[in-house]
Amino acid sequence: MKKAKLFVAFLTAVFLFTYCTSEPSSATLEANAGNTAPTQEELAKRGEYLVTLMGCNDCHSPKRMGPQGPEIIPERMLSGYPGDQPFPEVDGGALPGGWAMFTPDLTAAVGPWGVSFAANITSDETGIGNWTEEQFRKALTEGKSKGMDGTRPLLPPMPWFNYAGIKDEDLKAIFAYLKSTPPVKNAVPNPIPPAQPN
Ligand code: HEC
Repeated sequence: MKKAKLFVAFLTAVFLFTYCTSEPSSATLEANAGNTAPTQEELAKRGEYLVTLMGCNDCHSPKRMGPQGPEIIPERMLSGYPGDQPFPEVDGGALPGGWAMFTPDLTAAVGPWGVSFAANITSDETGIGNWTEEQFRKALTEGKSKGMDGTRPLLPPMPWFNYAGIKDEDLKAIFAYLKSTPPVKNAVPNPIPPAQPN
């Protein structure tokens, strides 16, 4: 009886050793065969899905009024505050009492930080066409304007702090999508600082 138990223990040890040190079986290799890096096209497709879900269009896409409220203007999608649009006058760039306010298409906002204009994030050179992925990472996760060190911090309402913990594969997908968007030429104005108290 004792011998039989020892034998079973021996067999278990042999099994565990073989199992843990063996090469992956052909079945495992086959299962991993389709697990190659995604193509740029697949990345961009996932990026488009994420951009839609994460609401980038809310602020970055110019809109016109439709029967159910503001609608994205397809040919201006993600191109930011239209630089050729006369900006409604705001007294000194700030509202009394700490209030904040948006233009009807949500591409510009005024508040205690002054007036900020949503950036052009299409593939045009007036957008992020010349940006590197590293710049995009810095802008989206560290809130640095143009994604460069030594520039000003991004202003509200850009919610970059919500994106600080984004997974690398998601950031890559969003960048691939934005780089694949039709280029829309639109130079967005610089922000207007808040009025100094007299
Ligand atoms: C609630 C409004 C809002 C949302 C939502 C939003 N943004 Fe922004 N974003 C802005 C504004 C406004 C600016 C400009 C801020 C400034 O000039 O300091 C900006 C700036 C940026 C910049 C920096 C551009 C530059 O030239 O430095 C990038 C990149 C950016 N947004 C990408 C995105 C992406 C990608 C999403 C979605 C995942 C997104 N934003 C969602 C409002 C928003």
